[in-house]
Amino acid sequence: MLKKIFSKDIALDLGTTNVRVYVRGKGLVVNEPTVVAINTRNDQIVAIGSNALRMLGKAPKHISVIQPLVNGVISDFEVTEKMLRMIFNKVHHDSFTLIPRPRVVASVPLDVTEVEKKSLEDVILQAGARTVFLVERPVASAIGARLPVQESIGNLIVELGGGISEIAVISLNGIVAHKSLKVGGELLSKNIIDYVRENFGVLLGQQTAEAVKIKIGSAASVSKSQEMKIKGRDLVSGLPREVVITDTQVREAVLPSLKIITEGVRDTIESTPPELVSDIYERGVILSGGASLLKGLDKLIRKKINISVYLVDDPSTAVIRGMGLILEDFDNLKSVIIPSARD
Ligand SMILES: Nc1ncnc2c1ncn2[C@@H]1O[C@H](COP(=O)(O)OP(=O)(O)OP(=O)(O)O)[C@@H](O)[C@H]1O
Ligand SMILES: [Mg+2]
Repeated sequence: MLKKIFSKDIALDLGTTNVRVYVRGKGLVVNEPTVVAINTRNDQIVAIGSNALRMLGKAPKHISVIQPLVNGVISDFEVTEKMLRMIFNKVHHDSFTLIPRPRVVASVPLDVTEVEKKSLEDVILQAGARTVFLVERPVASAIGARLPVQESIGNLIVELGGGISEIAVISLNGIVAHKSLKVGGELLSKNIIDYVRENFGVLLGQQTAEAVKIKIGSAASVSKSQEMKIKGRDLVSGLPREVVITDTQVREAVLPSLKIITEGVRDTIESTPPELVSDIYERGVILSGGASLLKGLDKLIRKKINISVYLVDDPSTAVIRGMGLILEDFDNLKSVIIPSARD
């Protein structure tokens, strides 16, 4: 009976761009944009996830479309709590019979303050969780990538999300060296918006920039050049205008941000003890997170540090899959759980 109760635990990866939930024994059940649409007349949620994202930049005045996280940390607590409550209720409704208040394993970025950590725990508890356990994101990601994090081996994981990049060397279940950067896929899209505004005098919407990045964005030159027609608002006339952007231009737009990431990887290796560096040299660097899907990013990093670079399968879900493995094998992996900030 006890075992059955515990089999209803869930894992939560509350990311800047996407929120993901894994239910023990069931797998990934929620994978949605971290976006909430609220009717400001009555303070009620109109939509969350992809339904809310579709309203971004298109909603009438009384509907405010909110992205409640910025660079990996919660910026709007009330909205985050509302969103999580809705997600927990849905998961409970779809998967649970008996226990309305789940135990939650939640991912936390490495460089958060105790106050930010406590707020994350409080929000999850207020949204309906019974207990919260925290796991550091790159550790979860490394477990998801099936790296031997429990052994005394240097594992270098580079987790590139929408709002932050976390570069970490993990050995014996803990972080040996790390670097967190406020650079992620969302900044790359913003770089494209800035580039098009400065070079074409056209203002692009967030979702158009995102589409450009995914379709023709790259970090290293591609064999066949590509271009894309995009529409935005002409800054002089105020009217819609179409322009054509090439893969070379997109690369030029995002390269300064990518340089911050490659330098972060280099700095992290430089601050790693020599024995572990030799492991990393032999085993290579592992890339994960949604932003690692940018074409040629593995190639660019390899060129800068001269060490093999591998992209994890399904990089966007590495963190939540790792947390799923922790739930499924809690007794074996519970040593990666870090202390609560609420004690
Ligand atoms: N094919 C692709 N090419 C380039 N970028 C991509 C691709 N697919 C997804 N991304 C980017 O990945 C980012 C989202 O990654 P992810 O879901 O890992 O972020 P997150 O976990 O929500 O954020 P964080 O961990 O930083 O808080 C977005 O910026 C998205 O544009
Ligand atoms: Mg993430």
